[in-house]
Amino acid sequence: MTDKKTTLWGGASVMHPALAALSESLAQDLPLADADLRASAAYARGLARCGVLTNDEAETLAKGLMALRQELTEGTWLPTDVEDIHAAIESELTRRHGDVGAKLHTGRSRNDQVATAFRLTARERVDGLIAGIKAVQAALVSRAEDEIDTLMPSYTHMQRAQPIRLAHWLMAHFFMLERDVERMKSARAMANVLPLGSGAVSGHPFGIDRAWLAKELGFARPTDNSLDAVGDRDYVCDVIYACSMAALHLSRLAEEMVVWSTAEFAFLRWPDALATGSSLMPNKKNPDLAELVRGQAGPMLGDLTSILVLVKGLPVSYQRDLQEDKPPLWRATGRLLTSLQAMEAACLHVAFDRVRMTSALSDDILATEVADRLVARGIPFRKAHHAVAAIMGRVRDGKDDFKTLAKASDLPEPLVQADFDKLDMAAAIERRTAIGGTAKSAVEAQLQRARALLASV
Ligand code: ARG
Repeated sequence: MTDKKTTLWGGASVMHPALAALSESLAQDLPLADADLRASAAYARGLARCGVLTNDEAETLAKGLMALRQELTEGTWLPTDVEDIHAAIESELTRRHGDVGAKLHTGRSRNDQVATAFRLTARERVDGLIAGIKAVQAALVSRAEDEIDTLMPSYTHMQRAQPIRLAHWLMAHFFMLERDVERMKSARAMANVLPLGSGAVSGHPFGIDRAWLAKELGFARPTDNSLDAVGDRDYVCDVIYACSMAALHLSRLAEEMVVWSTAEFAFLRWPDALATGSSLMPNKKNPDLAELVRGQAGPMLGDLTSILVLVKGLPVSYQRDLQEDKPPLWRATGRLLTSLQAMEAACLHVAFDRVRMTSALSDDILATEVADRLVARGIPFRKAHHAVAAIMGRVRDGKDDFKTLAKASDLPEPLVQADFDKLDMAAAIERRTAIGGTAKSAVEAQLQRARALLASV
């Protein structure tokens, strides 16, 4: 049973074990320790600046906090038997430094303290994730540079559609991930505002310089309203949403890799180090990496739902429910980082089968080219489309192939045999010179933009 001496508020009665069990959050807020120690050191100096502590007291506290930080990293100090990491730090500091330690919490509440450590930690996790996304993007760019001349079919509805370059497919995934970088940056900006100095709910009674504190801790600015600041978890929602979207994108890429590595497609082979075997079937080589990445996205959507539902309906300011805000963020950021590292390895090391891709370029995917030739002769596109569609049924039914069609004497008006002359995959790809298209120049422009984006911060 938690003893009254260990509660921060020094309650008069002993805490019921059921409440103590609910209250305890040490394991889930241990990842806040480093940020809490840094923020507390800045806070001690802030208190000295507004005359609450002497400079010597502030330096004793800051030094003591940095010593704890060192010991925590080295594993020589590991708090146990205490409600949360914030209480652990304060009580250990007081144990070591007596009354000076007991002065640290002046004007501060765990409400603004927790929010500050959480924002700092969320910001750092986002920075790691941005680096992780960029690493996957860099892998995609390096493969695209090598595969600019590899031709393959594109697919819509998972049916062969029109010819493209493999580099174009790789860059499609690059630009999906670029939106994730943008979302991460925006979530980071949401997190990057300082709540410290808001007190429990109504602000700081000793006039602490919050702009100085913000600068000291690398925040863009202090929050505008103490009541809002202690209960705002929008940034948590934003970070988990950004994680979820990135995980969805990785899941889509993973799904394509799974399909491409089937014997039926055989566009892609997994290196042994990135695949697994079956415990029963000696013939199997399984794309577990991609399946596991695909599998991360689902639970992450659960974490997004968790945080949104947690916040819904809470009165403004801090409510204790908010203690449950950390696990979803730890899980979502952790899952995404692992997934990014796995997909970086996949993007760098899977083998593309250029021959299989080229041989999947069946002539029927040039049907749009034939329609476009009619357009070039002045025939409205819809009519041209109907004429070509009328004969494509014969190809789909297996009665004719596209080449024999070209020689058929019964072509529907206004098709003529010359419309099928010298049809060519590379030429179809090269006609698409408009921005974002498949022509070599257009794909090179994508690569150039990608390299600039990767170099930017
Ligand atoms: N462990 C708690 C949390 O993470 C600390 C905040 C407690 N604040 C309070 N007013 N009881 O939310």
